[in-house]
Amino acid sequence: MKVVVGNKLEEMDKQALDYALSGYTKVVIDLGTGDGRFVYGSAKQNRRTFFIGIDLLQKQMAVYANKCLREKILNALFAIGSVENLPQELANTADEVHIILPWGTLMQKIVQPKTEVVKRLGSILKVGGRLEILFGYHPDFEPSEAQRLNLAELDESYIRNTVLPTFEDGGFEVIRTLQLDKNALGNVQTTWSKKLAFGKKRPIYRFELTKRK
Ligand SMILES: C[S@@+](CC[C@H](N)C(=O)[O-])C[C@H]1O[C@@H](n2cnc3c(N)ncnc32)[C@H](O)[C@@H]1O
Repeated sequence: MKVVVGNKLEEMDKQALDYALSGYTKVVIDLGTGDGRFVYGSAKQNRRTFFIGIDLLQKQMAVYANKCLREKILNALFAIGSVENLPQELANTADEVHIILPWGTLMQKIVQPKTEVVKRLGSILKVGGRLEILFGYHPDFEPSEAQRLNLAELDESYIRNTVLPTFEDGGFEVIRTLQLDKNALGNVQTTWSKKLAFGKKRPIYRFELTKRK
């Protein structure tokens, strides 16, 4: 897989990845990591856990990949990938996968999930591993994006009757779903959570799921 090291892109094979992960008690993947702030902050606070950020965009991830390089943070890695094209080296690797404030096709794949895509998402988790998704949008605030992606209107019944059954079909068990208000974003250590916490009022949903056997 291609990994972002400072401003450079390097190749990392499965053997090198296994070596990097050895000795850590837990592996956490942040899919759609953006600039990688969550990975950087979490890796500094939890030295026994290895954090991997994945995003489509090298340039965005270079922000915190550079900080990790400068500060010699060894338990953080940034890989190029997407929900459509996850690095195969990461199969059955994660104890936790986080998706925090997705946008674009990542949001679309969560709000209008297909069993095949949910299974692909589950493929990077170990059995019993945990998937946490924090998301929300409002067609009034993001009209063009909601329209471009043809996003359904979000409400409790749509989530209960359409979204969650697809995650169950795709191999997950739902632990809990919560509806939060934007103030809850204040505790989330990412760049977009900080931006949206100061923005307009919007419903935020949080799904917690585990990968079944
Ligand atoms: C609103 S940003 C949130 C970034 C970060 N999680 C945060 O909270 O600051 C959404 C991110 O999703 C990424 N993204 C969009 N489509 C994606 C896809 N199909 N697979 C993976 N990431 C995607 C974008 O590149 C962007 O970095």
